[in-house]
Amino acid sequence: MSAFHTPVMAKECIDLLNLRAGKVYVDATTGGGGHSAAMLEAEPEIVLYCFDQDEQAVKVAEQVLFTKSADGKSPEKSPSVELIKANFVQMRTELALRKIKGIDGILFDLGVSSHQLDNAERGFSFEKDAPLDMRMDALQTYTAFNAVNELEVHQLAKIFKDYSDELNATRIARAIERAEKPISTTKELARIIETVAGTGTKESLKAKVRIFQALRIHVNSELEYLESAIVDAINLLNPGGRIVVLSYHSLEDRIIKQAFRLAAQDCICPASIMMCVCKHQRQLKILTKSPLCASEAETKMNPRSRSAKLRAAEKVGLGYNKGKEFKSGSKYAAKGEK
Ligand SMILES: C[S@@+](CC[C@H](N)C(=O)[O-])C[C@H]1O[C@@H](n2cnc3c(N)ncnc32)[C@H](O)[C@@H]1O
Repeated sequence: MSAFHTPVMAKECIDLLNLRAGKVYVDATTGGGGHSAAMLEAEPEIVLYCFDQDEQAVKVAEQVLFTKSADGKSPEKSPSVELIKANFVQMRTELALRKIKGIDGILFDLGVSSHQLDNAERGFSFEKDAPLDMRMDALQTYTAFNAVNELEVHQLAKIFKDYSDELNATRIARAIERAEKPISTTKELARIIETVAGTGTKESLKAKVRIFQALRIHVNSELEYLESAIVDAINLLNPGGRIVVLSYHSLEDRIIKQAFRLAAQDCICPASIMMCVCKHQRQLKILTKSPLCASEAETKMNPRSRSAKLRAAEKVGLGYNKGKEFKSGSKYAAKGEK
């Protein structure tokens, strides 16, 4: 497996993906290629499209996935694995360009990789002094520098509050505004947070973690892209295909939970409406009633896995609900329906 990033809950992801030879799969966030490699190891005969918006990640994944194995069987010779440097929000278009209309499984392992966090120059971490950057995609022009130095106090405070529940959101935003010169490095920003949250305390450390996380989510429009890509992924799945998502904070998990819940419902009309008018058809069967977490052994070995939540669902067959006209659960629903 990749030294770049240890894949979280790899066995659980592979089991839930239910990989089958000859079928088409997507790793939406290939990162260091850890999960992608595990997928190919579990079933070498799959067709695999690996996405990442980070050029550096794609290069590392390329090395991990296309290195020849001892038996000479190398994916290098196989046209069945392709790395695509793109945001997963463009997945539908990218797959259509390759004449792929449906997929049989998809994995999302959200957030940043250890490599992105550990690489000082990327500016994701307050523990390393670096320019305030935080872009996953180097082609994007908007950085954390722009956010911190150009947004209004109320806009910054909203980002800190919405994306990290920071209690001192407004005070920190005001302290940023008071800075005498543009804040250009991670350490400068960390020092400003400390003027509000204190130094050397657990609370101050947590405040820095929260503010940096909030900025990262904002700079990379993480939640907006996720909301859109999850819907695309569900629509792209062939009947029987699986979607598996690993998330690392409550905002991501809420988006997944709600998207799955909505797609698992026959009717989404308000409770006051007796007869279904939405004609919404159930697309998913949820496989994980509550999210799975990493085992104690894994969290000891890989602390990053501690906050992981894994949710999975399966696409139900076409015509699953054909002819259904009344809300399930209503007195008009067919006998036996819930
Ligand atoms: C947690 S890491 C994935 C690690 C990977 N599963 C492994 O085993 O090495 C998340 C990756 O997703 C990528 N990423 C995050 N948001 C993305 C998006 N909207 N589109 C494409 N890639 C994204 C990041 O650049 C990062 O490399």
